[in-house]
Amino acid sequence: MLNKFLIGCCYYPEHWERNEMERDLDRIKGLGFNCIRMGEFSWSIYERTEGEYDFSIIAEAVEYAEKLGIDVILGTPTAAPPKWLTDKYPEVLAKAKDGTLMHHGSRQHHNHTSEIYLKYCAKITEAMVKRFAKCKNVIGWQIDNELNCHRKESYSETDDAAFRIWLEQKYGTIEELNRCWGTVFWSLDFVSFSQVHCPRPNPAHDNPSWLTDYYLFLSDTVVGFASVQTKIIKKYMPDAFITHNGYFENVDYKKLTRECLDFLSFDSYPAFQEKNQKALGRCVAYRLAQTRSCTEKYLVLEQQSGPGGQLSYLLPTPIPGQIRLWTYQDIAHGATGVLYFRYRTALFGAEQLWYGIYDHDGKENYRSREIRGIASELNRLGDLFLNNRPKHDVAIYYDYHNTCADKAESFAKSDARFIFGELNKKNVHADLISEDDDFKKYKVIIIPHITVATEELVQKLKEFNEGGGTTIISARSGVKDKNVRYRPSKAPGIFRNLTGCAVDWFTTLPAHESQSFIYNGKTYAVSDYYEMIAPEKADAVGVYTDGFCKDKCAISRYNNVYYLGFYSNTSADIYLDIIKQHIDYREPIAPNLEEVDMGEYTLYLNHGYESVDLKCHDIIKDEDIDSIPPFGVALTKREW
Ligand code: GAL
Repeated sequence: MLNKFLIGCCYYPEHWERNEMERDLDRIKGLGFNCIRMGEFSWSIYERTEGEYDFSIIAEAVEYAEKLGIDVILGTPTAAPPKWLTDKYPEVLAKAKDGTLMHHGSRQHHNHTSEIYLKYCAKITEAMVKRFAKCKNVIGWQIDNELNCHRKESYSETDDAAFRIWLEQKYGTIEELNRCWGTVFWSLDFVSFSQVHCPRPNPAHDNPSWLTDYYLFLSDTVVGFASVQTKIIKKYMPDAFITHNGYFENVDYKKLTRECLDFLSFDSYPAFQEKNQKALGRCVAYRLAQTRSCTEKYLVLEQQSGPGGQLSYLLPTPIPGQIRLWTYQDIAHGATGVLYFRYRTALFGAEQLWYGIYDHDGKENYRSREIRGIASELNRLGDLFLNNRPKHDVAIYYDYHNTCADKAESFAKSDARFIFGELNKKNVHADLISEDDDFKKYKVIIIPHITVATEELVQKLKEFNEGGGTTIISARSGVKDKNVRYRPSKAPGIFRNLTGCAVDWFTTLPAHESQSFIYNGKTYAVSDYYEMIAPEKADAVGVYTDGFCKDKCAISRYNNVYYLGFYSNTSADIYLDIIKQHIDYREPIAPNLEEVDMGEYTLYLNHGYESVDLKCHDIIKDEDIDSIPPFGVALTKREW
């Protein structure tokens, strides 16, 4: 399906004079692009009045693009309904938790549960897909745009009604719902499903099972919403691919991908991280890995190509070389195509500050020259990455159910992202896996404070360990069931047998105290919370250094299962040091150099302001080099 490397941009012909279109597409071709994405925000043009369709703007662009040999990905326009629709049917509007109704004036102001909205989405999708079904260069569809990007929750009447049906299907009887939610606590009992509603503002803490179900439900509404369009696209264009651009809150992307897409795509805006000075854009790797966890090959449908801004802010401009660096970072983590957002900066509208490849003047600039260079490299080399794929020995567990549970009870939550980022900086790249994935591909699996765990997961880990794999399970994992109720057993709950230990005493770290532990002669700091472990079948391999717990067990090991009885939110060194004992490890060459092995090759990505000494033959430039400049990239034959 993704059998050639795609390089291109998002193009909005409707934002420019009609007679500029051919010139623009010629220039897009001139940048070296073989693909454009269009059409995802133009419902009000396509259906100016109800039932009267006009796709001529996009159709002309598709036709001219075909002459130029440019492929097209079309977006369905359902993220921005036309005014006549929301005026006629206000029930399609989303409502905030405090009851505020969203209105026409921006985008994504609809809910996902109104049957009326779903019906109109189906109609516009069908009209659009039928119009383009015979266009050979329309290779794929993007459903909607960034589902849940702005409006992540909705509390309208149709959401309440859909939530009730969802709960009834899940629990069967109201008694079962009461039991699973523990509604006896604080007199929350219901006598019928008609009494239940989406969570509403409350003076005190909500019931965590109720909240978790609401987040699970929200994702199902997204999946249900997308599936309507999937069926239509498949019906008229069975050979075109269907994708969607993530990654946002309250969406189970694995389920969305499984049920609605051929593959998931990602929109990459590293400057948000730059602004927060987190890791010079390097932490985008986590989102890329999440996307890869849904589909091994994917597209970056929007890659930042300028200083993004939205009226109230303007992000930093990519430093010369950095757009190229981000492009190869996408590739290093699994992308087989990159489209830049956007061809030219809009002169008007809410995103007139969102700079694309060309500025408002539409003339050549530093970024367009850089991007032309990247396109020329990838037209030569891109296909090489279709077969040379990242493959990693380490996996970190995460799943959507735990993400919901973590939001409902945010005290003890997964550290997957933090651990991933810290390991990435130390040259350990990880895949993100959940229960349905193949565990046997890995040497080490980390269960990073995963509170909700099932017997099935325990069984899979047991088999993984029996096959020689190593598991690192950290504090408070396994203590809850799927209703996010605590298990009536000592931590680590369902993992007690697997870890061969039980927690005897625990505490959050008092503000005036510090705690550390010693493992293999090295001292590490604990953060936030720690447990005194009572090894049952396990050995104590790490002990605390201070206070009441001095010399008591901090890390236990039973066969190949480590249990870490603490949080370490400031450093993931303990994970790294255990992992090093179980994989072939190589030290990073420099702190800001990301090194990713891909099949027969290694990609080097310099995220730092300093050049990094490295003698090698760079395949991209086809020259011998002594160093990689700041924000530079090199591709070499793999030596490891
Ligand atoms: C994405 C979105 C685009 C555009 C871009 C820049 O999140 O899909 O439509 O808004 O950001 O803000």
